[in-house]
Amino acid sequence: MVAGKIAPAAYCVTDKISRASVALGIDCGIVLSTLLGHKMQPNEIGRSYDTIANVWQEPHIQSNGIAQFERAIKFTKIRNHALDIGCGSSGRFFDFLLKHGFQVEGIDISEKMVALARQRHPNVPLHQADICTWNLPREYDFISAWDSTWHLPLEKQELVLRKICEGLTQNGVFIFTTGGLDEPGEKSDSCMGPPMYYSVLGIPKTLELLTRFGCICRHLEYDQYPEQHLYVIAQRIQQ
Ligand SMILES: C[S@@+](CC[C@H](N)C(=O)[O-])C[C@H]1O[C@@H](n2cnc3c(N)ncnc32)[C@H](O)[C@@H]1O
Repeated sequence: MVAGKIAPAAYCVTDKISRASVALGIDCGIVLSTLLGHKMQPNEIGRSYDTIANVWQEPHIQSNGIAQFERAIKFTKIRNHALDIGCGSSGRFFDFLLKHGFQVEGIDISEKMVALARQRHPNVPLHQADICTWNLPREYDFISAWDSTWHLPLEKQELVLRKICEGLTQNGVFIFTTGGLDEPGEKSDSCMGPPMYYSVLGIPKTLELLTRFGCICRHLEYDQYPEQHLYVIAQRIQQ
């Protein structure tokens, strides 16, 4: 384990979120001390995001990840159905995917994120659920999980990766972010304000599992280097 080495919160929204945490009056040290010995579960992550859901509606978020989605979408052959996992409240990926001809759906565990997303996209089917236990209702030609699945308990990562890979159509594309570590790792912090938990499988295990679950890695990039923020584009090659 390499606890403490993941820095997933250190992406472009960190400054704003830190300011939000000050506004909320949350003290990192106090929150961390209550976290010691406790691994947050998805429903607790959802409640944490409820308290900061409005941050993802701020204008500076609206371009985050779009260039990476542009790259991913070039690999798609069919553009019928798309799913955004941990969609948050911004709706920018819905707009992107709708513009490219997809019918889109979103899933997020945070009640507040889903409520805000619904205000912006009343016609997009939105599921308030935990991706660990939610059964994909169909196969998708494009699935995204941008800065979301790194919140799953480490022991659920493999199960969810399998579910997603097997939920892609032939040639379906999956884009997701993770931490660019060499081995599995997990950590808890309150850098965004409320307590959060993160876990990653590490690059070797992630690539091994993608292959085992019928996908091939088309692109892998540290897009905020020297931060450990890593995005991966994978494509289903076997049914
Ligand atoms: C950092 S936000 C990113 C939101 C969005 N993807 C974006 O980039 O704007 C992480 C999102 O993942 C969601 N999330 C975390 N764990 C989840 C789970 N187990 N199932 C579904 N959504 C989850 C959170 O509620 C939150 O909305």
